[in-house]
Amino acid sequence: MPQDSLKRVDFIFDKEYDCKSVLYDAFKLTRDEIVEEIIKSGLRGRGGAGFYTGVKWKFAKEEKAEDKVVICNADEGEPGTFKDRAILEEVPTKVLGGMALCGKVIGAKRGYIYLRGEYNYLKPKLEEEIEKFTDVLRNELNFDFTIKIFSGAGAYVCGEETALLNSMEGLRGEPRNKPPYPTHHGLFGKPTVVNNVETLVYAVMVFKIGADNFKNIGIQGSSGSKLFSVSGDTPKSGIYELEFGMKVSDFVEEFGDDDAKAVQVGGASGFCVPRKAFAKTTIGYQGKLKGNSLPTGGSMMIFNSSRSMYNVLHNYLEFFVEESCGQCVPCRIGTQQLLKGIEAIKKGKKSSEYLDNLLALAETMRLTSKCGLGQSVANSFSSIVENFKEEMIY
Ligand SMILES: Cc1cc2nc3c(=O)[nH]c(=O)nc-3n(C[C@H](O)[C@H](O)[C@H](O)COP(=O)(O)O)c2cc1C
Ligand code: SF4
Repeated sequence: MPQDSLKRVDFIFDKEYDCKSVLYDAFKLTRDEIVEEIIKSGLRGRGGAGFYTGVKWKFAKEEKAEDKVVICNADEGEPGTFKDRAILEEVPTKVLGGMALCGKVIGAKRGYIYLRGEYNYLKPKLEEEIEKFTDVLRNELNFDFTIKIFSGAGAYVCGEETALLNSMEGLRGEPRNKPPYPTHHGLFGKPTVVNNVETLVYAVMVFKIGADNFKNIGIQGSSGSKLFSVSGDTPKSGIYELEFGMKVSDFVEEFGDDDAKAVQVGGASGFCVPRKAFAKTTIGYQGKLKGNSLPTGGSMMIFNSSRSMYNVLHNYLEFFVEESCGQCVPCRIGTQQLLKGIEAIKKGKKSSEYLDNLLALAETMRLTSKCGLGQSVANSFSSIVENFKEEMIY
């Protein structure tokens, strides 16, 4: 079968790409022109939620404040995602370039990298890069911008932007109510842009190849390409940069082991696609293709027929029970009840009809949880239970 929709590209790790000269040209534009280019490119956040980057920058730019902040979210806690680490290891200057570009646009003089605790080994090298880069910014691009690293302490929920801000302020790492959004009331109340590592690299790339060219990559509503962390039952686990719009069937043909029965798109908080839906499911933000288009922060886990989907779901639920911050009832209690519920069904202590109650509970969590953690538990729960019901029962 031809693999038409799977298109490999090499923008992110392209070492020839000179970030300094791209910024040099970009800085000749006005702040409005820079932000309009980003909007025109259609760039959307690569951290999961897919918000339009240019619009986010514009909101922060329009805030009247002396002190604004740029934060690079390098918490990378989603199970099965390991691409931000590779970016920071291989091409850190491009991340710093994206932070500087954002700083220039919104009028910020300082930025932070919120670095996942487990990635602390990267700190010495990153600090060296930061020193070199901020010297170039100051001396050659006439832009004073400081960048510091803040180490996370290993909580998945601290990747959520407002929990991240709380943790940087020395508070418990718990999500805040939104609104207000960080662009209006962020770190210590300052207008703040929080962007994923990969998003920042693509922001610079928009100025390397031009907004129109960027928009022409991928599909409508999902411009550009994306780094995918491929894991599970695959002979080709690793990190690949592919255009948006790829069909899961083409992905499996390229990366699977000829026996794939499901692909978990987007990690534990994403969706499980069963074999029967491979051909009709496309990877991209939900736009025109709504219904058959799945977004992902980059995690693609392949499961073959030797895997128990009950065990997969059990593992995800244990993760959510552990990582729920406990602040709101639907998530704190719901995650535990879903876990206990599937265990009871598997042991024959509850009938298979009880699965319907659990599906309803998961939907309630989607509607009533305070943050994306509790809201997204239903994604994996419902898509695994509905497609692999026979594996859940006694
Ligand atoms: C539980 C949870 C964990 C998250 N973890 C991350 C993370 O590790 N990295 C990340 O960039 N975004 C993460 N996000 C999304 C952030 O809240 C935010 O949307 C993102 O950093 C914005 O950047 P972007 O617009 O460039 O995607 C997480 C969200 C939730 C609900
Ligand atoms: S949904 Fe879960 S993680 Fe989010 S605030 Fe509520 S308890 Fe905390």
